[in-house]
Amino acid sequence: MNDRISLELGDRSYAVHVGRGLTSQAGEFLAPLCGGIVPVVTDRNVASLHLERLMEAIRGRGLEPRPIVLEPGESSKTFQGLERLSDALLNCSLDRNSLIVAFGGGVVGDLAGLAAGLLKRGIAYAQIPTTLLAQVDSSIGGKTAINAPQGKNLIGLFHQPRIVISDIDLLSTLPRREFLSGYAEVAKYAALNSPEFFSWLELNAAAISDRDAAVLVPMVARCCRIKAAIVGQDEREAGTRTLLNLGHTFGHALEAATGYSDRLLHGEGVAIGMVLAFRLSARLGFSTKVDTERLERHLRAMSLPTTVSDIPGPNPSPEAILVHMSHDKKVRGGQIALVLVRGIGQAFTTSDVSIEAIRALLAA
Ligand code: GLY
Repeated sequence: MNDRISLELGDRSYAVHVGRGLTSQAGEFLAPLCGGIVPVVTDRNVASLHLERLMEAIRGRGLEPRPIVLEPGESSKTFQGLERLSDALLNCSLDRNSLIVAFGGGVVGDLAGLAAGLLKRGIAYAQIPTTLLAQVDSSIGGKTAINAPQGKNLIGLFHQPRIVISDIDLLSTLPRREFLSGYAEVAKYAALNSPEFFSWLELNAAAISDRDAAVLVPMVARCCRIKAAIVGQDEREAGTRTLLNLGHTFGHALEAATGYSDRLLHGEGVAIGMVLAFRLSARLGFSTKVDTERLERHLRAMSLPTTVSDIPGPNPSPEAILVHMSHDKKVRGGQIALVLVRGIGQAFTTSDVSIEAIRALLAA
């Protein structure tokens, strides 16, 4: 039932393991990659639920785990958080052969990956993602970053992990809303790459929602396989990798317009953003309304928001959304770069959509 996916990047290639019970087997995976002290970066929530199991697995292979426990949440993804983490890591007597383990969600992975990339000009690290979002997206592909006052993930570098170990059993303790928010990224892979995977997700919606591991293992593995193939072709996001941003230009703008608050989680913004991208594609004649309705129906079946008016509290205005869209990293030469679709599973990128067309969409 467990699966292994290869991300092919020459001498920086690595395996993504997806399956059940992998935390207890982590020592076997990590031992060939390191020796001695193994810093394990995690957050307080993950530590209280799962850290002891990982420590035991690492100790079982004669290694010496050193936990570094961060405060949960985006507030750790700052220069101050990076400084504190670097200090703690350097106190672990790291050398160029050390391996840092990132054991947590996107925040832990992004921050620990960045510290690994910077310290001693690059130390190896392993990702053991504990959220659905991190398992299907942020742990794979080597994007690492902290946030700046100007926006999220603006200070970072590409630094590929040596291995990714995704234990599906860890998903059972995630708060439901966080699990569903991560699911938006799963639906994104199908919506951009595979009509057949999309139909599979529709068919298995109830089992996914119930977190049935028999369905989650192939689902996460499928996403990892799609992402590995895309990153293997375009590590630095010069072309194909931009497709992974389906729903994100709108989604990031909605997150910014709602103050990155609890009102809208990242995946919820992506869910609304994908529906907007599909709707815009239909308005511009690239796809049909039927595809938009099908996407919206599935996201709703998964209890995800699909329209700006689903966001609790005052709705961000079209102008506010547009302003944030034009600050996004995805703006190229003054034009907003968007991922649109020719149908489910057929995404493409364009910078040719006029601001007026986007304004009209948001106003509608
Ligand atoms: N999260 C999108 C990417 O890794 O490119």
